[in-house]
Amino acid sequence: MTETIEQPTEQGVSGAEIRLEKVTKKYPNTSAPAVEEFTMTIPAGKVVVFVGPSGCGKTTTMRMINRMVEPTSGTITIDGKDALHIDPDQLRRTIGYAIQQAGLFPHYTVAQNIGVVPGLLKWDKKRIADRVDEMMELVGLDPATFAHRLPRQLSGGQQQRVGVARALAADPPVLLMDEPFGAVDPITRGNLQDELMRLQAELGKTIVFVTHDFDEAVKLGDKIAVLGDRSSIQQYDTPDAILANPANDTVAGFVGAGASLKQLTLTRVRDVDYSTDQVLAVGDNERPAVVAEKLTKSGRTYALVLDARRRPQRWVHVRELVGKQSLDGVGRPVGDTVSTQSTLQDALEAILTEGGCAPVTGSRGELLGSIDINTVTSVIANVREEHGA
Ligand SMILES: Nc1ncnc2c1ncn2[C@@H]1O[C@H](COP(=O)(O)OP(=O)(O)OP(=O)(O)O)[C@@H](O)[C@H]1O
Ligand SMILES: [Mg+2]
Repeated sequence: MTETIEQPTEQGVSGAEIRLEKVTKKYPNTSAPAVEEFTMTIPAGKVVVFVGPSGCGKTTTMRMINRMVEPTSGTITIDGKDALHIDPDQLRRTIGYAIQQAGLFPHYTVAQNIGVVPGLLKWDKKRIADRVDEMMELVGLDPATFAHRLPRQLSGGQQQRVGVARALAADPPVLLMDEPFGAVDPITRGNLQDELMRLQAELGKTIVFVTHDFDEAVKLGDKIAVLGDRSSIQQYDTPDAILANPANDTVAGFVGAGASLKQLTLTRVRDVDYSTDQVLAVGDNERPAVVAEKLTKSGRTYALVLDARRRPQRWVHVRELVGKQSLDGVGRPVGDTVSTQSTLQDALEAILTEGGCAPVTGSRGELLGSIDINTVTSVIANVREEHGA
């Protein structure tokens, strides 16, 4: 029996649900299974990240989904269809696959690499060429510059982009990514992650992503599966639930000591109650004596001087105002501000730079309020409470 996987019609989701039910893989001539009775539902249109120690069975589990590895027992359905009864070649064409080092064909140009699956699907030449251009634009590679290069004429990060473009070329509802960004430097890696998130917001694929890097999992995953020996599921939940409340010591080990700090990368300043009256803001044309009086009256020692467009300029201590005729150049320049889009991690850095309190600014740099260390610590405390930790 041969089935095909079609694009589900549900609005806004182009991915397909994947279900694995008691899936086991025992490689020939080995004593223990590599994956044992693995049961998981991967929701349509979501990114699920597998993390776990080397050799625990992540790659094996992932490859059973597109049957590059045949399960020994169990069932796998994709979009409700039994994957083990779909012709494997046909199945693989509906599942994009990207791996570490990009795995590009070395003697194919970038365009030929990206066009491989559409070619297998017997698309006509014009359609393939158009699709290749579209994919290159999508991953940020200029077709005129790169289409005719060979993989070895690209940087590592560019190769990974081609790998992602190739995986996406036939518009598969499912994407499997096995440490796709493992071989590039941290900065390029961060950029590739950002781009994948942007793409995913647009495309809504079902993505299974393997990584060793817990931070990468937190950043990319709608859900994270922490796996142990034989792909045993230690915890399968949202990043913030896992960070706030690791299920056991294995998970805690993976999450690491910086769990609470990682939590801060999930929350943005706009999500928290930053203060709008903690800082005494004054105009740069105000008289120092008046500012000093305001400070004394309100029991504060510092004022924040704003320019005509209400953008923070300098912190002025009450003592610095003594005998001054104007605020011109008085005080210490503001080193760092945070926007409402900033993560609490960024805010924490700014708070430390600013010595306890950082100005929060709007889209035109205007002062909206301020954030201090108490806001950050109370967010951490709340999260812990919410998750019962
Ligand atoms: N073709 C094979 N034949 C026999 N054993 C294999 C084969 N492929 C993998 N294994 C074994 O199965 C187990 C799981 O391997 P797998 O590649 O799935 O691990 P992994 O979690 O992806 O590891 P890594 O993080 O190092 O990539 C390992 O013990 C490995 O040695
Ligand atoms: Mg692996």
